Amino acid sequence: MNTPHRWGDQYSELGHGPIPIEPYISPNYYQREKEKIFHKEWLCVGRNEEIPNAGDYKAKRIEAADTSVIVIRGKDGNVGAFHNMCAHRGNTVVTETGHETLGNSRAAILTCRFHGWVYGADGSLISVPQEDRFYECFDKSENGLTAIHVGEWEGFIFVNFSESPAQGLEDFLGEYGQHFAGYPFDKMPYQFTYYTELDCNWKIAHDAFAEAYHVDTIHAGSFPNVFSNGLERVKLMGPHRTSAVHLSMNGKPTPIAGLANELATGSLVAQRGESMLPPTINPDRAQDFSFELSVLFPNTLIHVSEGIWFTHQFWPLAYDRTLWEGRYYVAEPETNAQRWALEHAMTLQRNAWLEDTATMEDTHRAMKSGAKQHQNLQDDEILIRHGAVVVDQYVNA
Ligand code: FES
Ligand SMILES: [Fe+2]
Repeated sequence: MNTPHRWGDQYSELGHGPIPIEPYISPNYYQREKEKIFHKEWLCVGRNEEIPNAGDYKAKRIEAADTSVIVIRGKDGNVGAFHNMCAHRGNTVVTETGHETLGNSRAAILTCRFHGWVYGADGSLISVPQEDRFYECFDKSENGLTAIHVGEWEGFIFVNFSESPAQGLEDFLGEYGQHFAGYPFDKMPYQFTYYTELDCNWKIAHDAFAEAYHVDTIHAGSFPNVFSNGLERVKLMGPHRTSAVHLSMNGKPTPIAGLANELATGSLVAQRGESMLPPTINPDRAQDFSFELSVLFPNTLIHVSEGIWFTHQFWPLAYDRTLWEGRYYVAEPETNAQRWALEHAMTLQRNAWLEDTATMEDTHRAMKSGAKQHQNLQDDEILIRHGAVVVDQYVNA
């Protein structure tokens, strides 16, 4: 029975009261989030498909952990993670061209462009030009790249900047890891990405994507009457959370959208053929299931559906600035018709994401005014409530 307070009743430990705004607008709270969360917990920094071959690497700036990380695949196939900093005079070893930089070294080495120090994919310092002019106290074996803990789950690459992480990656993921295990993420590697920097706190961006209450209003243009505005099968799993979004049965796509849904290999609306979902997701195989909406703590949302999956990541740049990255994955189109349908899906998704991001800066600006001290959440905003409670637990631990 869908009672109006079903999630609040099920997870009554989260309380029902208003949620304070201070954590969204406080530079001091953000400092504690950096220390207690982004410097300490597992963070998803990429996918295996981004660095498939030996010598492929990715550098990613993580401002919230005050560093840039390099993940590189060695000749043994293993992925190593290192701070992007040379042991000579501190230059970045991978020259960055933006928030993230992808590259390949056939020899699986990294060379600092300042004075040519060369590192192996295992981080070891291999070669130093004019090595004999350094002094006896200089030991190459002690001057490799600084390693970072790295782990992999279902093709996602994670790093942890803590010297000794409180938990291994598997324990950190816990039930969330099991819930999504077996979904064929790697079978749908064709990707498009949208990203932008927003003048808002990272949690405002998280919250805007963690409910479906806004669908009828904000997405009246892109997805009119397409999705239900509530959540199904909410499950809170340690710091992580998931739920399902279903289709609204009154949805009437435009003729073009209807055609694109028919032709697309993956769509949030069209459901065809045998399910590719693991038994934990849409377990009763409801025909009106659209997608699983989940939050992998702290800053990654993973959404999966039939033939398509997508992620949002929110990287804090400052207490009032956030890098948002939206990535959408489908199978490579095989026909022109499928390619057209994919272009249609991309455009629709871009419009929807523009609608989603449109409120964030306004929300942050209004929050800073101090006119209100709290937000009021309804029952279908339970993922936001859980997020606020979890972040607060970490910050005050
Ligand atoms: S700073 Fe890297 S070689 Fe000099
Ligand atoms: Fe949305």
